[in-house]
Amino acid sequence: MCGIVGYLGERDAYPILIKGLHRLEYRGYDSAGVALINEEGEMTVCKAKGKVSVLEEVAAERDMRGTMGIAHTRWATHGEPNECNAHPHYSQSKELTLVHNGIIENYKALREELTNQGYSFVSETDTEVLVQLIEFVKSTHHCDLVRAVHLALKSVIGAYAIAVLEKGNADRLIVARKGSPLIVGIGKTEDGKTEFYVGSDATPIVEYTNQVVYLKDEEIAVLKRDGSYTITNLSNVEQTPQLQTLQVNLDELEKGGYAHFMLKEIYEQPESIRTCLGGRIDAKKRDVILSGILDNKKRFLNARRIIICACGTSWHSALIGKYFIEEACQIPVEVEYASEFRYRNPVIFKDDIVVAVSQSGETADTLAAIKLAKEKGAFIYGVCNVIGSSIAREANSGTYIHVGPEIGVASTKAFTGQVVTLALIGLAIAKEKKTLSTEMYEMLVDELRKIPQKMQWTLDHNKNIDRFAQMFTYCKNFIYLGRGYNYPVALEGALKLKEISYIHAEGYPAAEMKHGPIALVDEEMPVVVVAPKRGMYEKIVSNIQEIKSRHGKIISVVTQGDTVVKGMSDYTFVIPDTRDCYVPLLAVLPLQLLSYYVAVAKGRNVDQPRNLAKSVTVE
Ligand code: M6R
Repeated sequence: MCGIVGYLGERDAYPILIKGLHRLEYRGYDSAGVALINEEGEMTVCKAKGKVSVLEEVAAERDMRGTMGIAHTRWATHGEPNECNAHPHYSQSKELTLVHNGIIENYKALREELTNQGYSFVSETDTEVLVQLIEFVKSTHHCDLVRAVHLALKSVIGAYAIAVLEKGNADRLIVARKGSPLIVGIGKTEDGKTEFYVGSDATPIVEYTNQVVYLKDEEIAVLKRDGSYTITNLSNVEQTPQLQTLQVNLDELEKGGYAHFMLKEIYEQPESIRTCLGGRIDAKKRDVILSGILDNKKRFLNARRIIICACGTSWHSALIGKYFIEEACQIPVEVEYASEFRYRNPVIFKDDIVVAVSQSGETADTLAAIKLAKEKGAFIYGVCNVIGSSIAREANSGTYIHVGPEIGVASTKAFTGQVVTLALIGLAIAKEKKTLSTEMYEMLVDELRKIPQKMQWTLDHNKNIDRFAQMFTYCKNFIYLGRGYNYPVALEGALKLKEISYIHAEGYPAAEMKHGPIALVDEEMPVVVVAPKRGMYEKIVSNIQEIKSRHGKIISVVTQGDTVVKGMSDYTFVIPDTRDCYVPLLAVLPLQLLSYYVAVAKGRNVDQPRNLAKSVTVE
């Protein structure tokens, strides 16, 4: 939810930290701060409400020298977004300062205890409690900071990724994690000296090194200026670090000439889906090869049920996955909001497979849902984008969607990557279960392979959406309709519009309209209908008729060559024909563009919409 960056080495830390914060800003952007220690051991802390650029303005007036530092960009949980609640937070004596991502759940009890011990607090945050606790433990146990961090973290309930600095010590940076991600990058200066980078994810690190250690839960790393480092667990037992090589490419983290990351990511989809399919389809044999399914063949063959847990956009792709897997594999599939599932003592059988769908692989509710299912004996399968993420590591097996880093807060290419991956999973299971005829199986494989070029066609033939979107900026509400595989597309289209333009929008199964929501329709109401010339075409034509009779404005997504729905619509987006199960992959593209251009026309900050953050690592 928040972003942490750190540096220890020979270079000036400040520019590295600021650049890192810009890269992490998608994780939270309501305030930011930086702390540095200079060669004399003096500590400087500088914070500001608002974006990283505001912090830079404030810091321009300050002495920001130092070759070790930590920084933070915040998405507020405890305490409103203001300078005081921004990180880093000082301890009472101002000897320590700390940045934190996560939630200290027992912070109220700890705060009360510390207050009784004479500590006072300046902020409303749980983070300030943590830094005060570390100081308290250090002074009462007469121990050094590393030991104090160990002991303090033992009394903490909740999730944390932290980085701590101590005044007077420019040689040591302490970081730790539980529940929230933290990566240590190990780089080399030109003269071969080791330097350390810390990040909530790889984005602030990849520019400098591709050698990283993903800290595990309850691990504490002590990074030293002489280039050595140790990792211990909370019981102070030394752990063997596993050095990994990052696969992220720096270009993927830049806008590459586009006005926003979201637009770049929308246009990347033909290529990202090609990458997602890469090596997984044998075109000659018209076959899907998915190691995650092959390695666990028995499990999938004997599965009583598949439960897919996800949140937000990932929940929408999961719903499409359910329709596909049920149809192709004849296995019952349930789709659950992870946040509900985890708290309702669900019935889980040992022969259930629980699939977690998550772009970031860090969503707290999804992570908790699979931990619960694992405890109850289910087999956990991850469908994530971020390699090495918490959900990917918690799962027993899985398939990465491989669409590259998604920076825009509104998920676009991850959605299509998830739908494709779930289709691959469905096809791979169907092949083993023999639930599809060879003819149908091969036809679905062939058609899936053609999706990237059909996506390109869709993007090329819907270029006028920017002009057309201007007309909708005045709207207060939108309705999105779809049936079958396109009902989740309606939900996704509505979510995209809501989150970046702040226009209220609802997605419905088209036939549900007459059970209530049709009362909302009047000449002011735009109704977006996904109406491909496929399966339930005649039915959706009737649904459109019902809306037209109430003077609603129809914006439709139609199949190339269709004239009937086009004739009934005020505006039309065209997609090429494909199988019903793959229509969402094409139909969602104009809806993503529509929300993007309406938001731009309304002057919204598309990549960083208000109140949101890219990955929700808190409940
Ligand atoms: O990283 P995840 O896929 O687990 O994230 C789930 C949701 O938070 C995410 O899809 C969210 O709904 C997006 N902002 C939607 O655009």
